[in-house]
Amino acid sequence: MLGARPQFIKASPLIHAIQQDGRFQHEILHTGQHFDANMSGIFFEEMDIPEPIVNLGVGPGSHAIQTGTMMLGIEKHLQNSPADLLLIYGDTNSTLAAAVVGVRLGIPNAHVEAGLRSFNRTMPEETNRIVADQFADLLFAPTEVAQNQLRFEGFPEDKIFFVGDLMVDAVQGQVARAAKQSKVLDQLGLKPGEYYLATFHRQENTDDPQRLGNIWDAMRQLSKQANVVLPLHPRSRKRLLQHGLSMVTGDRVQIIEPQGYLDTMQLLSNARLLLTDSGGMQKEAFAVGVPCVTMRGETEWVELVNAGANRLAEPLNVDTVLDAVNHMEDVSFDPTQFSFYGSGNTAEHICCIVGNFLQQLQV
Ligand code: UD1
Repeated sequence: MLGARPQFIKASPLIHAIQQDGRFQHEILHTGQHFDANMSGIFFEEMDIPEPIVNLGVGPGSHAIQTGTMMLGIEKHLQNSPADLLLIYGDTNSTLAAAVVGVRLGIPNAHVEAGLRSFNRTMPEETNRIVADQFADLLFAPTEVAQNQLRFEGFPEDKIFFVGDLMVDAVQGQVARAAKQSKVLDQLGLKPGEYYLATFHRQENTDDPQRLGNIWDAMRQLSKQANVVLPLHPRSRKRLLQHGLSMVTGDRVQIIEPQGYLDTMQLLSNARLLLTDSGGMQKEAFAVGVPCVTMRGETEWVELVNAGANRLAEPLNVDTVLDAVNHMEDVSFDPTQFSFYGSGNTAEHICCIVGNFLQQLQV
């Protein structure tokens, strides 16, 4: 069950492990939550993900419309071609829709990225993942913090598995390939270590004009220190246009389209720092040894903050963001010294547990 950009990235190493293992069949249902070529198709091509068996083509809408339309499509598909287990990923509306339909149809499901909490229920992602955890038969925790959270919430021990993080498998598998194949630095006239990479798309930031304005001003001010490269998410582009925010002459902010996986890895691994509100990119930055400023009031990836690799900067004003960047600029760390997210074999680990689960169903 896939639908949004981070899910394609997480699924890729797991699908390859399932193909290698060969014990069970796997099919992809794409909800169509993300639909632009550079938000969806390019990840299937670059990460060698098989074609979905069905694409529901749901597209945008309010949370209720988007999730409800997905639920109708998922239900219809599963009634016509039943599955033994649903693999659902992360915290998007696609995750929520699949979890609810699965439990209604009595199909077991495995939640990849279980137990993460921001403790901020105004985020759609937080409520989505809480529901997904409730209905999961297998809870795949990416970190020990997430594993402990599941225990604390009373989930049965035999459903919880600390497996590590698939995104780290993906980075480790692709970063060398990105360095060889990507031409993005030349195309944008960038030199390693001389630019900031920035991304933002969270509803709490894009849909609040004050926060959006602060982030925008921070980008412009930072561009006095070094180039800022900003691959702009469609949600953020729409909101900036609505609020009439644009760059002025002299700003060194390079606004580009959302990038594919390999170009993103190349941009990230050569940046002097990442500014983001993405969940996934915080871990990806860590995995390639790049310091990160997270433009939110909290993060699910608390171990990165504790290790000094990540700093929170809620964009309530411009200075909070600028101070955090200045603080983090010279931070260096060796990601190989830490094993928060497993050791790059999360996909094999999950595949093995799923294979055993399916075998037991047949007994
Ligand atoms: C979704 C997830 C978020 C995840 C993010 C990754 C939910 C609630 N949120 O947020 O957790 O971090 O994906 O990107 O599920 N759009 C396009 N083209 C696309 C995709 C989206 O133009 O290919 C536009 C939509 O029309 C919509 C906006 O972007 O107006 C937001 O898309 P949506 O899927 O609602 O949520 P995201 O902000 O991408």
